[in-house]
Amino acid sequence: MSVKPKTPEELEGMRVAGRLAAEVLEMIAPRVEVGMTTGDIDRICHNYIVDVQGAIPAPLNYHGFPKSICTSINDVICHGIPSDAKKLKNGDIINIDVTVIKDGWHGDTSIMLGVGEVASHANRLMQITQECLYKALAIVRPGTTLGDIGHVIQTYAEENYYSVVREYCGHGIGKIFHEEPQILHYGKAGTGMVLERGMTFTIEPMVNAGKRHTKLNTRDGWTVTTKDGRLSAQWEHTIGVTEDGCEVFTQRKDEQLSF
Ligand code: MF3
Ligand code: CO
Ligand code: CO
Repeated sequence: MSVKPKTPEELEGMRVAGRLAAEVLEMIAPRVEVGMTTGDIDRICHNYIVDVQGAIPAPLNYHGFPKSICTSINDVICHGIPSDAKKLKNGDIINIDVTVIKDGWHGDTSIMLGVGEVASHANRLMQITQECLYKALAIVRPGTTLGDIGHVIQTYAEENYYSVVREYCGHGIGKIFHEEPQILHYGKAGTGMVLERGMTFTIEPMVNAGKRHTKLNTRDGWTVTTKDGRLSAQWEHTIGVTEDGCEVFTQRKDEQLSF
């Protein structure tokens, strides 16, 4: 497997795309409330990306995906399809996953939001999952291996009696939405590809409250849920490996990250 590090000019393209993706989440987060539909969220994000940002929503028509973002509620792990029939209710937890293309470069990022008043166990799942992402970001630097990344995520999730989804993973990203390498969110320290400065990829752990097993909805071909029906959470950033750490291209204003 070969992964070509990006040049400073290419990294600047990633920086711009990443910032735009983060800005979509900053725009939509305060607008999400009980009673709106995931179709509403999709429309607002689509129009913002196209009309305000002059960018392209990458999911739309990607391998046939019918909408511009993914919205994954409660036991939906990932790839939920926005729908005018899907109303948000009090206590739901939702992942909003945005990928924009600007000047050919991709920025891919997602957050969890609680709708109305959320049970403390659900808040805890969302928070621990975000910490899984942050613990992984904290060890990224030249010399870290992909197995190290999977290991810190899996260890922290399992310490908290949660499980890590195995069938879906992070990915290299650039002019291509999903490219090599695959970034597994579980694994053994010291194994796998060694990171080099200039590599760009996502880390996007999916953590389940119950067992790790997944179920694909064969009717729509996209929606992935937990097999046991329990809650799942996910957070995602697009990053680049720097000389001594990483740059988080999709960092939002509500985050104070220093890696
Ligand atoms: N944004 C997702 C990811 O993090 C991919 C969505 S692909 C789609 O990789 F087709 F489902 F939109
Ligand atoms: Co991704
Ligand atoms: Co994504």
